[in-house]
Amino acid sequence: MRTRRLWLATFAVLSGLTLAFVGGMYWSQHSPSASDPMPADDDPIAALYRVPVDQWPAPTVDEGIDWQPLGPLPEPPAGRDWTPLTHLGRQLFFDPRMSSSGQIACASCHDPEHGWTDGRQLPFGHLRAPGTRNTQSLINAAFMDRLFRDGRAGSLEAQVSIPLASDIEMHHTPAGAVQRIAARESYATQFEAAFGDPEVTYPRIVSAIADFERRLISRSSRFDAFIEGKHDALSDQEIRGLHWFRTQGRCMNCHSGPLFTDQQFHNLGLNFYGRPLQDLGRYNVTGKPEDVGTFRTSPLRDVAFTAPYMHNGMIPRLRNVLLFYNKGGAHPKRGEKHADDPLFPKTSPLLQPLDLSTEQIDDMEAFLHAISARQNRLSMRFVADLREQAEQDREAGAHDADSEIRR
Ligand code: HEC
Ligand code: HEC
Repeated sequence: MRTRRLWLATFAVLSGLTLAFVGGMYWSQHSPSASDPMPADDDPIAALYRVPVDQWPAPTVDEGIDWQPLGPLPEPPAGRDWTPLTHLGRQLFFDPRMSSSGQIACASCHDPEHGWTDGRQLPFGHLRAPGTRNTQSLINAAFMDRLFRDGRAGSLEAQVSIPLASDIEMHHTPAGAVQRIAARESYATQFEAAFGDPEVTYPRIVSAIADFERRLISRSSRFDAFIEGKHDALSDQEIRGLHWFRTQGRCMNCHSGPLFTDQQFHNLGLNFYGRPLQDLGRYNVTGKPEDVGTFRTSPLRDVAFTAPYMHNGMIPRLRNVLLFYNKGGAHPKRGEKHADDPLFPKTSPLLQPLDLSTEQIDDMEAFLHAISARQNRLSMRFVADLREQAEQDREAGAHDADSEIRR
């Protein structure tokens, strides 16, 4: 009798578990996901957008603004297929031997799992020196006319030497990097595959890294599916967010086109002029008074993965960014000290209080998530390779001989 009851009890528990397990599987398969159609009710705003893009309502932009429609990404400049040069570039991008300490790779700050940023307000580099600007994502950098937040680099090739030589980033020299890279034999095969012979030169290192960066293109998001005509790819809420983005939110004054950026420089009032955190932005490059405190309009695809935000990383979450714009941005007052200062920066007149309700801000936040596709991941094989190389370096004492850290 007792055994029978025990058996029944065990059976009940087991079948409960099975049901819970099957239920869990069912739930995880049927909870809303990127590919599931969203319930479409008769939201009047959503209906305005479930039509071809050229029939959408006109955006709210100020006079003279040269806006572009939000559309699909253009074809990447270097195509999508990887070549031996791309594979070499990826290897170098992740290789800490590019830095004098042997500890800092490009990927230390541009981490694929953080949308190719470091997830920090400000980065740290050589000997943990703190940086002064928030790390940029490399997603879609291939499409940018000018790189960096102040546009001071004209090409991905020209950009590489800047972090390499910076005292607070990788603190190295081109010759030093070449020497370190050439010391690892396995690179000979990769240079040979990419260039036809195994010689390691600095221009080759640079062109390989730039080639790799040109493949860091955002994946197709639900927004892309939507504009291709899959009108259930976005929920009503996300479509309303798109509508506020294009109209009452006034975002299209600066964030328009397939990349959600005009690639121009604007002042949002976050420059801390005359204070310890001052950043003069584009002015450092052009020397023009109207450029004081302006920064390149950030592209917004995959923006959900790249917190914190702005050139100084001072805005922690997307929600706070939206609240910031809703107030009309920052408008620092010109004090006595700067009464006659011709350089005192002026916040862009394109920023105005928006009077968005909490629900409208929720909608816009949902939309910004819908233009973010999927986090990047490295293949386990590549991660295992990196680990193996680090181990070999450690055994060979590769970094100890000339490491700055030991001095
Ligand atoms: C210590 C952290 C750090 C390291 C290491 C680092 N970066 Fe960066 N990267 C940054 C920061 C910070 C910015 C933004 C700087 C600015 O705007 O002045 C940036 C910006 C960039 C940009 C501009 C992106 C755009 O959209 O304009 C590119 C490209 C880039 N880095 C590539 C690299 C490469 C290649 C390496 C390795 C050779 C590297 N970075 C190493 C922190 C780092
Ligand atoms: C006057 C032009 C302008 C307008 C209007 C504008 N932005 Fe921006 N946006 C910028 C600039 C410039 C930056 C970069 C600022 C910096 O680096 O300090 C930026 C940065 C951002 C960022 C942070 C991206 C990052 O990676 O750090 C987000 C998110 C953003 N904008 C969303 C919006 C939304 C949503 C709207 C509409 C409510 C909007 N912007 C309106 C110019 C503008």
